[in-house]
Amino acid sequence: MSYLNKLTVRDLDVENKKVLLRCDFNVPLDNKHNITDAKRIDEALKTIEYLREKNAKIIICSHLGKPKGEYRKEFSLKPVAQYLSNKLGQEVKLSEDVVGDSAKKMISELNPSEVCMLENLRFEVGETSNDEEFSKKLASLADIYVNDAFGTCHRSHASTVGVTKFLPSAYGFLIEKEILALSKLLDNPSRPFVAILGGAKVSDKIDVISSLLEKVDVLMVGGGMSYTFTNALGYAVGDSICESDKIIFAKDMMAKAKERDVKFLLPVDLKVGKEYKKDTEFKITDADKIPEGWMGLDIGPKTIRQFKEAISQAKTVFWNGPMGVFEWDNFIEGTFEVGKAIAESGAMSVIGGGDSAAAMEKLGLAGKMTHVSTGGGASLEFLCGKSLPAIEALQDR
Ligand code: 3PG
Repeated sequence: MSYLNKLTVRDLDVENKKVLLRCDFNVPLDNKHNITDAKRIDEALKTIEYLREKNAKIIICSHLGKPKGEYRKEFSLKPVAQYLSNKLGQEVKLSEDVVGDSAKKMISELNPSEVCMLENLRFEVGETSNDEEFSKKLASLADIYVNDAFGTCHRSHASTVGVTKFLPSAYGFLIEKEILALSKLLDNPSRPFVAILGGAKVSDKIDVISSLLEKVDVLMVGGGMSYTFTNALGYAVGDSICESDKIIFAKDMMAKAKERDVKFLLPVDLKVGKEYKKDTEFKITDADKIPEGWMGLDIGPKTIRQFKEAISQAKTVFWNGPMGVFEWDNFIEGTFEVGKAIAESGAMSVIGGGDSAAAMEKLGLAGKMTHVSTGGGASLEFLCGKSLPAIEALQDR
């Protein structure tokens, strides 16, 4: 799906118009409400700057976390407005409500080329239910709607789908860039095409595993989800995370790989820990012999070697999900070595968002990848060939 049939921000006359710009500023915050990874904000700057140059009055809206339809201070977009003010060298005001008097007053005082922000969309219950009345109120704040929230394009919410019924609508430069990069994986990728999946749960990635098996030459599975696969092979997994209701699915996927001649690589050894704790005691063990009372927290040295060998031959790589608990120094090695191997391979590399993107930032490898997506769920759904409702809803050319 190329979505070339949809309008982009370039196609709309935004001069002096009020533009409602949907961004995905659902960024990670620490316990002092400091932004710990601003990639999603930085990536939206191109569209914001373009609109400023065109003298538009820019009204940014976004969600942050899951406040479930009520105001909750800890989910305020205040840190984002502050960050944007510093980046743009201009005060970015934040309204106290989403579509109420505070938002209306703020917008009425906005001059061309200025930027303001609405409070967290999910403080309104109508946002996630895609309520028509709420969509209408949101739309009434602006003349034009631009969506640049790639990470939220798999959600049919008022600010991503509902609002498009009431305003001329197009996508921004970030969505365009994401679609172009991810499409390269779907349209005739250079081979061998290697996909690496990790992260905690098989159930989060059921569709993507099945769909990738129809596209790739090698599929490697590491991280928490690998134990469901090794358990399906009859290996003891100790206290490792394992989804027993997904064992049959795991067996089916390994059979599908065989049928399609896809090389399916699982860990052969692991770094196991006594407890799920940063400074827990740890040791290396074979993947089929995790002792009772121990759990897999990273891939082991033999697995790292095997995975690196396959990556070094790749011409195209897609990676989603870390190989271990990379947030803890003792269990970072697998994720780091896999990232390094991708960077050194010279392959066209695409990193799915979420944890793997955060890991690449933390390890200083993000700049060495061809594309690091700002979308976790959205990039996976796109890769599975599913349509993204927020892009579907935009105006055709
Ligand atoms: C994300 O972080 O994946 C997007 O911002 C979507 O957030 P959601 O899963 O809370 O809808």
